[in-house]
Amino acid sequence: MNSIYTRLINREHPLPADYIPEGLVDIGIPFDALPGDPKRLLEKTAALAALELINRSHREGLNLCGVSGYRSYERQKKLYTGSPYVAPPGTSEHQSGLALDVSCPQIRMELTEEFAETREGIWLLHHAPIYGFILRYPANKEHITQVPYEPWHIRYVTKPLAAYLSLTGITLEEYHEMENNGSAAGGMDLT
Ligand code: DAL
Ligand code: ZN
Repeated sequence: MNSIYTRLINREHPLPADYIPEGLVDIGIPFDALPGDPKRLLEKTAALAALELINRSHREGLNLCGVSGYRSYERQKKLYTGSPYVAPPGTSEHQSGLALDVSCPQIRMELTEEFAETREGIWLLHHAPIYGFILRYPANKEHITQVPYEPWHIRYVTKPLAAYLSLTGITLEEYHEMENNGSAAGGMDLT
């Protein structure tokens, strides 16, 4: 069984233009956007997991902040420039409410590769899976994900699947490929 949380969303597997996730809520974390801005929203299970992740980072003295969560099809259409960093409308995980871009004041809340070198970026890489998130667009996997390295973009996939993907180092694309071939997780159903 495939849940919304483990769903593959990419150029080959788009969301319908009218797809709006159920139960969008404000995550309640420090955000580089004013209250009321839809980019502060996430799907409710993902939002709770993000809150736990970000709260823990703050307890450990880090300054992780939200930059962009939910994005409607229409908003993605306006943002789309043809750049490989911006998914065409319908193919962005942000439309699912399961993806969150984060950054930190040290790099002026920018979404750049520099984030990977910050304390926050290093911490995120190691702790995101504990809360059910993966770094969706790793370095050197662009040929598979069709998106360049984005150390700031996390995607909620549930704790079991995040653990599996981070331990094996495979992408969501590779996981779904294996699942279609009946060989993912040694036959375990993580979806
Ligand atoms: N930056 C990612 C690819 C997006 O626009 O969803
Ligand atoms: Zn993103």
